Amino acid sequence: MTASSTELQRLAEKFETAASEVKDRMSWDALRLEWTGRKQGLLKSLLGRMKDILPEERRDYGQGVNRLKVRVEERLTELSEALATAERQAEQGQRALDVTLPGRQPAVGSLHPITRVNREIETIFTELGYSVADGPEIEDDFHNFEALNFPPGHPAREMQDTLFLENGMLLRTHTSPVQIRTMLKRAENPPIRVICPGRVYRNDNDLRHSPMFHQVEGLAVAEGITLGDLKGTLEAFVKRLFSAETGIRLRPSFFPFTEPSAEVDVTCPFCTGGGCAVCSQTGWMEILGSGMVDPRVLAGCGIDPDRYSGFAFGLGIDRVAMIKYGIPNIRMLFDNDERMLRQVRG
Ligand code: PHE
Repeated sequence: MTASSTELQRLAEKFETAASEVKDRMSWDALRLEWTGRKQGLLKSLLGRMKDILPEERRDYGQGVNRLKVRVEERLTELSEALATAERQAEQGQRALDVTLPGRQPAVGSLHPITRVNREIETIFTELGYSVADGPEIEDDFHNFEALNFPPGHPAREMQDTLFLENGMLLRTHTSPVQIRTMLKRAENPPIRVICPGRVYRNDNDLRHSPMFHQVEGLAVAEGITLGDLKGTLEAFVKRLFSAETGIRLRPSFFPFTEPSAEVDVTCPFCTGGGCAVCSQTGWMEILGSGMVDPRVLAGCGIDPDRYSGFAFGLGIDRVAMIKYGIPNIRMLFDNDERMLRQVRG
């Protein structure tokens, strides 16, 4: 054995020892640099020493250095792969999914009580053959008042005070103007059966009234419509909306656009008429205004009152939602407090 091959042997052993001590990327990198570094790597200087080797030993020496180089590179790659695997496993360990943890409940949204009641009412009337009509919330005096028989200065306007805009328009106080718009459009071809749901505005503000609230009004115009049709329709409606035991009673009332007019009470859905705290022991709850469309209103819309008659009704969606879900204060409907919304999710 030549001196140089003994040295190569020794170096190979030194490398194996150093390689077996590699624990992480940093020590691996240091080892790589020490052995295969392009400028000062050990292998590089071993090759550089070729010229100092005796000519007859050069061949063996060169082959020996080459074998060492192949081994070093092979081992470095092997170590690098092992390190990469270990790194991947460590990372996965940190991200590991603990399947024994209880799941997190996703927050599921729900329909607002007003939307629910509105949709329920729309469903019931659609099944009764009504269509749903829509109109503007910013109305003119004609559609909101005059066409409905509230002449300028009429005291009934007082009950429906609202916001008037500078251009003479106003925030509609009921959805009756949508009925006027419908009659004007369809004067030529009754029968008409529509409901008009939507937001309305009044100068009212207490536990049961909000300056903005929701109404559904209904209108039926055809030949031979009577008060009996009105009562039958409303009875069928409240039995679907509340329960089959619900009954109604009509009390004479006044609206400028209906003659005769009636307030409609339903038997209290909580005590079904027996009397309880919710209905102040009366057994009844007032939820609707109604009446036979005044012939003057029909005529004003171009519908011949000698041939056609009709009934109309209106109810507050907010009020129905309060009754259905036992909500004591109308403002709770608009606070968007999740605690309330969660309770009425149903
Ligand atoms: N428009 C009336 C109101 O808002 C309700 C109503 C509609 C009454 C139709 C009778 C007939 O007070």
